[in-house]
Amino acid sequence: MKTKIWKVDKYGDNLYTYPQIKEAAELLKQNEVVAFPTETVYGLGGNALSDEAIEKIFKAKGRPSDNPLIVHISDQQDVQKFVETIPEKAKLLMESFWPGPLTIILQAKPGIISEKTTAGLSTVGIRMPDHPVALSLIKAAGLPIAAPSANLSGKPSPTNFVHTFQDMNGKIAGIVDGGETGVGVESTVIDCTDNIPIILRPGGVTKEEIETVIGPVKIDSQIKEEVENPRSPGMKYKHYAPNVPMVLVDGSPEFLQKIIDEKRQEGKKVGVLTTEERKNIYDADKVLVCGNRNNLSTVAQSLFKTLRSFNQENVDYIVSETFPTEGIGIAIMNRLIKAAGHNVIYEN
Ligand code: TXA
Ligand code: MG
Repeated sequence: MKTKIWKVDKYGDNLYTYPQIKEAAELLKQNEVVAFPTETVYGLGGNALSDEAIEKIFKAKGRPSDNPLIVHISDQQDVQKFVETIPEKAKLLMESFWPGPLTIILQAKPGIISEKTTAGLSTVGIRMPDHPVALSLIKAAGLPIAAPSANLSGKPSPTNFVHTFQDMNGKIAGIVDGGETGVGVESTVIDCTDNIPIILRPGGVTKEEIETVIGPVKIDSQIKEEVENPRSPGMKYKHYAPNVPMVLVDGSPEFLQKIIDEKRQEGKKVGVLTTEERKNIYDADKVLVCGNRNNLSTVAQSLFKTLRSFNQENVDYIVSETFPTEGIGIAIMNRLIKAAGHNVIYEN
């Protein structure tokens, strides 16, 4: 399949009337798949009402079809078309964080959103992305748009056009090139079907931010266990993975260096994932910088790009630093632990 590419680098108020956006929206209406930027990562969009479109998304990604997709909308008023009720806490969250990186799970109205989108669940995850290209594309299509991250299943999510193109060229009808995304990790997924909402995936909106708006929320026990105590290497299926094995090292830079030295003695070429602050202290075959440790948002922004960059380097093992599990740090560690296949070494 020839993948059409549109570049949108200047945003006016009437972006939804631009020819590039109209053409891309036309393909979405024809149940074709179009990738586009959001504020988190690039999404692989398709008509959420259409079985045919959703099947194409799963096929392009190589994703197991039992994993539901997020429905993207451009107008908060549309939520009521797709869900049974909107609980008060969900409404507060929409008002505080939309448009933005928060996906809210609610009870779906039966028979509207495709069962392929929800993977047959009785619930649906909805979000309004905070990106002019995404919002205008959804508006121009006049449809709810299902969109998983635009990576091949198992790879780091794409945060720019080049990464999206690498994974999707030839597999989908088009890609809207809207430059780099901002947040860098995916949306927070929160289930609001119960009175006490529960975070199913940490992401761009932090637990702390959510709790200031609706009070205490729970965090899925598996996430908690994984982030605080990820001691079961390689058990889960691959996600966010670079092409070579990776280990997270929780400890001092001296301890990290010791691990690097051991691997190099085994004859491995070792790459290090670190931050601006520590870029000059390691002796390794390659040192890649992922943001600033004193500003974790910059680490989130560069995380997937850095993981992908290792694939261009001549390394056969990656050693990564760990990050504090507060604020956006929970999302960063959640992605890193998966990228490393739960392979973590502790100094203490
Ligand atoms: O930032 C994002 O959320 C990006 C951009 C493109 O919007 N999208 C994204 O989609 O990350 P995806 O498919 O890679 O991840 C969706 C997550 C999955 O973990 C899925 O299991 C969960 O949301 N999810 C979707 N609908 C759900 C539902 N009804 N119940 C529970 N989890 C759901
Ligand atoms: Mg994904």
